[in-house]
Amino acid sequence: MTTKTLPLDLAERSYQIIIGPNLLESLGEQLAPLLSGRQIAVVSNETVAPLYLSRVVSALEKSGFRVVPVILPDGEQYKNWQSLETIFDTLIENRFERSSTLLALGGGVVGDMSGFAAASLLRGVGFVQVPTTLLSQVDASVGGKTGINHRLGKNLIGAFYQPKRVVIDTETLKTLSPRDFFSGLAEVIKYGIIWDAGFFGYLEENMAAILNLQNDHLTHLLYTCCAIKADVVAQDEREQGTRALLNLGHTFGHAIETQAGYGQILHGEAVAIGMIMAAELACIRGLCNRETVLRIKNLIQHANLPTTAPAHFTPEAYLEAMGRDKKVSGGKIRVILNGEIGTAELHTDIPPAQIKRAILAHTDR
Ligand code: NAD
Ligand code: GLY
Repeated sequence: MTTKTLPLDLAERSYQIIIGPNLLESLGEQLAPLLSGRQIAVVSNETVAPLYLSRVVSALEKSGFRVVPVILPDGEQYKNWQSLETIFDTLIENRFERSSTLLALGGGVVGDMSGFAAASLLRGVGFVQVPTTLLSQVDASVGGKTGINHRLGKNLIGAFYQPKRVVIDTETLKTLSPRDFFSGLAEVIKYGIIWDAGFFGYLEENMAAILNLQNDHLTHLLYTCCAIKADVVAQDEREQGTRALLNLGHTFGHAIETQAGYGQILHGEAVAIGMIMAAELACIRGLCNRETVLRIKNLIQHANLPTTAPAHFTPEAYLEAMGRDKKVSGGKIRVILNGEIGTAELHTDIPPAQIKRAILAHTDR
């Protein structure tokens, strides 16, 4: 498999997404021409650091970087102020300057937190994403959304802050747990539903090969998803319109994650159930036919993802959590609903009774 480069075009904040095998080894050479300073903090966690930190540190040191590692506890439940404090304490103690850089080595949790730390330390230091989960490679590392959770809602505190480079080493997927790989597939399927019917069809035909981690399929999938994300973000960096489509299933999904307790139901798992609820709601409102709901549900099932929410989650609790979503405007819940495969739109003014019906149709009894 060869290395591929995708540009994300954002005027002076433009950057490249590099996708290929064994890219960790050349990180120093890749970053040296991009970064003005030579001080770099590698933020990772207790699971990823033992696997990849030493390789990253020696690659950076070879190119003259002084590296400070920051190792956080692992889990969505640690995507909070306390972890940010740990990052800030280390960087301030090590006299970081505006020319210094934070490099996120890990999944979406490490990436989102490191990006927010980079955006706020000294009002902005350099930031590089080295995502190591499928979910972070196809979605979280690209586009500059950073942040932490609040106990009342997911990702409610954060900033838009673009990295200077995204380096996707495809070999890192080989150590990922199957459950985390499946979780990433939810965001992959999302791109097919909202943007690209051909890609959705490709996923329907090739899910077995993808689940076997066949290299050519993984490359195609990573490249296609990053290309769609780069296109969407270049059109609408700050989510004034099109970018909101990337939140398909997330309004329901965030409500599921919040109700379950962070880390209990994985982000991709919650999004998968959320996309089925969104498709149900779209069908109730006449935006798509029943066959489309079934295709979405079947593909999610083939990706080994859950298709129903636990029985004890009540529709009232969803509505409460959905009312705190970032997309709420004028107190009104706004959700992304698919039309036929490959299309989606933002919808407001949906009667709560219809939302409840869609939730209950995909909740365990
Ligand atoms: P995660 O970061 O928790 O990673 C999942 C698990 O995999 C963790 O236990 C992690 O330690 C482990 N891991 C990471 N890389 C590994 C590897 N190569 N080998 C073995 N284990 C590895 O979760 P995630 O699914 O990557 O990301 C979910 C987070 O991303 C959520 O907080 C979500 O809100 C966020 N997100 C952000 C955006 C965005 O645009 N910023 C988009 C989608 C999701
Ligand atoms: N994951 C949604 C976005 O980046 O906009």
